[in-house]
Amino acid sequence: MLHLGCGLDSRPLRLAPPPSCRWLDVDQPEVMDVRRRLYDFPAHVRQVPGSVTAESWWREVDPDRATLVVAEGLFMYIRPAAVHALVDRIVSGTRRAELAFDAVSAWSATASRWAPTFRALGTSFHWAWHPADFARRHRTLRELDDIAVIDEMTVRDPRVWLRPFLSAAGHLPVVQDALRVHRFTTR
Ligand SMILES: C[S@@+](CC[C@H](N)C(=O)[O-])C[C@H]1O[C@@H](n2cnc3c(N)ncnc32)[C@H](O)[C@@H]1O
Repeated sequence: MLHLGCGLDSRPLRLAPPPSCRWLDVDQPEVMDVRRRLYDFPAHVRQVPGSVTAESWWREVDPDRATLVVAEGLFMYIRPAAVHALVDRIVSGTRRAELAFDAVSAWSATASRWAPTFRALGTSFHWAWHPADFARRHRTLRELDDIAVIDEMTVRDPRVWLRPFLSAAGHLPVVQDALRVHRFTTR
């Protein structure tokens, strides 16, 4: 399991993977410092500080294992060329991989440049989902799922009273495409 841009996600504690599972959490060194102070992970859940776009930590990945790669809330913050290079690295660096990531639409990326929260933090989305471009760029990948996050919220949001409103909003194509979860496998 390779968790890219893991942030403060505590999934290994919730899932308790067995020692036979090699689990790598990767994020920037400052974030990994906080994780170390917050969580007590078993030794086989490796905490790897570094940029996901760096080559150095790839020596931690066993190229002979089938690997699940998860990147939540990550790719949109990375420049397009670096996203594609990282996906290429996942394909070349694993025996077989399943890759799950979320991606924003082009309009979400544009809106992020004007959103007050993003402006206050000095950040914005750099990479947006262009399906034809991704398919052309990564011909060895096969898509398994493409799910609108609004559809998941419509059935899972704990605020049950909100669900009809989410469902109504989900009929708008711009809302459908705002944030989607994609799952690919290497062929
Ligand atoms: C929106 S948070 C998502 C965190 C976590 N995946 C979650 O869903 O709760 C984005 C995370 O990606 C990390 N990140 C952004 N760019 C990165 C990079 N180039 N290398 C490693 N981590 C990065 C940030 O430090 C942050 O922890």
